[in-house]
Amino acid sequence: MTASYAPLYSQHLAALRSRTDQALELAGYDHLVVAAGLPPRKFLDDQDYPFVASPHFRHWLPLTDAPGSWIVYTPGAKPTLLFLQPRDYWHVVPEAPSGYWTEHFEIVVIRQASEAAAHLPGKGRSAVIGPDGQEPLSGIAVNNPQAVLDYLHWYRSYKTPYELALMREANRHGARAHRAAARAFREGASELGIHQAYLAAAAAIDAELPYASIVALNQHGAVLHYTHFDRTPPTQSRSFLIDAGANAAGYASDITRTYAAPGHQAFQALIDDVDRAQQGFAVKVRAGQSYPELHIHAHHVLAGVLREHGVLRLSAESAVESGVSAAFFPHGLGHPIGLQVHDVAGFQQSERGGSIPRPAGHPYLRMTRTLEPGMVVTIEPGLYFIDMLLAELRDKPIAAEIDWAKVDAFRPYGGIRIEDDVVCTDDAPENLTRDAFAQLAEG
Ligand code: GLY
Ligand code: MN
Ligand code: MN
Repeated sequence: MTASYAPLYSQHLAALRSRTDQALELAGYDHLVVAAGLPPRKFLDDQDYPFVASPHFRHWLPLTDAPGSWIVYTPGAKPTLLFLQPRDYWHVVPEAPSGYWTEHFEIVVIRQASEAAAHLPGKGRSAVIGPDGQEPLSGIAVNNPQAVLDYLHWYRSYKTPYELALMREANRHGARAHRAAARAFREGASELGIHQAYLAAAAAIDAELPYASIVALNQHGAVLHYTHFDRTPPTQSRSFLIDAGANAAGYASDITRTYAAPGHQAFQALIDDVDRAQQGFAVKVRAGQSYPELHIHAHHVLAGVLREHGVLRLSAESAVESGVSAAFFPHGLGHPIGLQVHDVAGFQQSERGGSIPRPAGHPYLRMTRTLEPGMVVTIEPGLYFIDMLLAELRDKPIAAEIDWAKVDAFRPYGGIRIEDDVVCTDDAPENLTRDAFAQLAEG
C-alpha cells in the first residue's frame, strides 16, 4: 500500500457515495448500514472458520481484518466506521485503523459486537447489508433490500481507477507467486511443496487467498477444481496446471498457467496453441463485444486446435454443433472479477436487476453481458482429457471422428488452462496478468 492510493481512493469513495445515494433514493431508504460480518463458528466448537469481510464492506474501505465492524452512511454526511476492537488478551485485536482512507470516516471504536446497534441512525429507514444469521451477536437485523443490492451490484461491474490499481497489485502478487511455483515444479516438488512455495512467495496464508489454489500435477489437471495436495512427488512430473490468485486490499487476481516438463513436446505444442488462442480472446475484450459470443468463438478456435493436433477429424463447426468441443472445454470462458473472484452481476440485465440467460448448451458460463469500459473479466480457455466426459463421448456415433489413440496419449497430462484478468477500456484492453508477468521479467 502506498501513498499514491490516496487521491484514487478519494475519487473511488466519491463515486461509491454517489451510487449509494442513487440506490437509496430509488429504493426508498434513508441510510445504508454495511456489516463486515463475523467469522462463522464451527459446529459444536469454540473455533471459528477463517474470517472474510463482506464484499460490500470492502468496497468502502481497504480493511479486510475487521470482524464485527460496520459502516453507517447517510447521504450528505461523512460515513461512520463502527470499528470493533474488543478488550481481549486471548486473540490479536485489530489495530486502530490508520492510512490514507481514515480521514474520510468518523471512526467510532466499539468494544463488543453488541455495541454497534446503539450507533445506528435513530430515524428513517435503513438498508442493512450483510450476511444473515449473525443477528444474535450484533443485535442488528439485516434486510438486504434487493433493489439496493441490484443497483450496487450493477455498478460494481465498472471498476474505478482505484480498484484497477489494486487489481494490478493483486496480479503482481499472483505473478510473483506463480513464478516461484513454476520453479518448484521444475525442481520436482510435490503438489504440497509447490503450494508452499506459492504461499511463501505471495507472503500469504491459505485463508488470505481469494480462492482455494489448484495445484495439479499430471492427470490431476483433468479435475477442474482439484484442491487436494499430494504430499509426495509423482515418480515423473509430466505436466503442471496451477490456478491460484492473490489479494490486494480485498481485490482478487485469478491466474492459471500450464507447463510441460522438458521432453514432452506434443503436450508443450498443445499448450502453446491454447496460449496463442487465449491471447487472441483476450485482445477481443473490447467495448461492445458480447461475452457469450466470445465464449462460443473460443469453442470454435479450440476445436480447431484439437483438429490441428490430430485429436479431432471433424470440422471445428461440427465439433461445436455436436457438443464434441464441450467434452474437451467443459466450462465457461470466464467471469467478472473484482472484490470477489467470481464477481457479481455477470448475468444482470440492468441496474434494476433481471437476468440475461446463458446460451443453450453452455450451462457453466458465468458471464452473459456485453463488455463495457471499466469491466474486468477473466479469459480462461482450457482443453482437458477428462475420463468421465470422454467415456460419454466414446458411446456416441460421433466417436468415429475422434482419434482415440491421440486422446489416450494426452490423458496422462490431464489438461490445460491459461487464465488472465483483462480490463475492458475505451480502447485496447489492459491485460493485468500478462503485464504483471512482464514486469517481473524486467525486474
Ligand atoms: N479459480 C477459479 C476460476 O478460475 O474461476
Ligand atoms: Mn477464473
Ligand atoms: Mn482461476
